[in-house]
Amino acid sequence: MNKKTVFSGIQASGSLHVGNFLGAIRNWVTMQSKFNNYFCVVDLHTITIPQDPATLRAKIREVAGLLFAAGIVEDNSVVFVQSHVKAHSELAWLLNCITPMGWLQRMTQFKEKSGKQREEVSVGLFDYPVLQAADILLYDTDMVPVGEDQKQHVELCRDIAQRFNYQYGETFMLPEPHIPPVGGRVMGLSNPENKMSKSEQKQEDSIFLLDNPDLIRKKLKKATTDSLREIRFDENRPGVNNLLTIYQLFTDQNQEEIENHFEGKSYKDLKEQLAETVIESLRPLQERYYEIAGEKGYLDDMLNRGAELAGTKAESKLREVWENIGLR
Ligand code: AMP
Ligand code: TRP
Repeated sequence: MNKKTVFSGIQASGSLHVGNFLGAIRNWVTMQSKFNNYFCVVDLHTITIPQDPATLRAKIREVAGLLFAAGIVEDNSVVFVQSHVKAHSELAWLLNCITPMGWLQRMTQFKEKSGKQREEVSVGLFDYPVLQAADILLYDTDMVPVGEDQKQHVELCRDIAQRFNYQYGETFMLPEPHIPPVGGRVMGLSNPENKMSKSEQKQEDSIFLLDNPDLIRKKLKKATTDSLREIRFDENRPGVNNLLTIYQLFTDQNQEEIENHFEGKSYKDLKEQLAETVIESLRPLQERYYEIAGEKGYLDDMLNRGAELAGTKAESKLREVWENIGLR
C-alpha cells in the first residue's frame, strides 16, 4: 500500500520551545512510521526578518539536531534544510505570479509580525506564505502537521494549488492541515494571553528545549497564575489552564485525573510538579542532542542525505510545473 506524504517546516529564528515540541515536533515523531515524511528547517523563511549570519548558521544546525534528538528517524523521514534544495525558491516565484496580493493581505500572521511597521518590513515577510505553499506543494503532500497558528497558511496553500490547477491543469495535490486537539497553541508563561514564542525578548515566557533543570524550575515558579485557589481546567483562567495543559500533554493523563490529583493542592505544588515532569520529559532529548552535536560529521551527513532525497523529488515536480506553465 502506498503511504501518504507528510510535510512540515520549522524556522531557525531562535530556540525551540515546548510549544514547538507539543504542538508540532512530538506529533511528527509519533506519526512518522505511518507516512513518508519530509521535515524541513525553513531557513529562507527565517531570513524574512533580519538575522545575524553566525547565529543563523548555528541555529539551523541546532534545530536539525533537535529534530533527530526528538526521535525523527531516517527510515521514515527526510530531514533537510530548505535553502539546500533550490526548487523551493524557484517554485515560490512561479506561484507568486498566480497569487493575488489580496490573499496575502488577509494573512493574520503578517499583520501580527509587521505590526505598526507595515511599510518597513521586507517583501519577503509579506510573501512568506507563498514560499510555504511552494514547500508543501513540491512533495505532493497529503498532510501538514502544524500548530494552530499555521492553519491559515495551509488553507492559503490549498487555494493557491487550486488556482494553479484551474489555470494550468491538474498539477498539485491539495494538502490538509493536521492540528492536535490539545497542544496546538501553548501559551506564554508570563503572558498566557499570547502564544509561547521563540522571541529572544520574551525569555521568561518560554521553556526552551535545551533549558537546564534549574532554569525550568525558575521560569515555572514565576509563571503567571491568578488570585483564585482551585486547580481546574478553565479557559477563562489562561495562566492556570496553560500550566495544566502542559502537564496534561507531558503526562498523557485526562483532565479529570489531573484535577483529582491536584485537589486541595496549591499553585506552588502545581508549578513544582510540572517543573519535574517537564525536566524528566526533556532529559532524554537533551542527552541525545548533546551526543549528536558532539558526533563529528553526523549532522552534515544526515543533512546532505536529506537534501539529496528531497531535491530529487522536488526537481521532478518542478519539471512538471515548467511544462504546464509553458516554460519548457
Ligand atoms: P515556528 O517556531 O513558527 O517555526 O513553528 C514551528 C511549528 O511549531 C509550527 O507547526 C507551529 O505551528 C508550531 N508552534 C509554534 N509555536 C507554538 C505554540 N506556542 N504552541 C503550539 N504550537 C506552536
Ligand atoms: N510557517 C511555518 C511556521 O512558522 C514554518 C513553515 C514553513 C512550514 N514552511 C512550511 C510549516 C511548510 C508547514 C509546512 O511555523
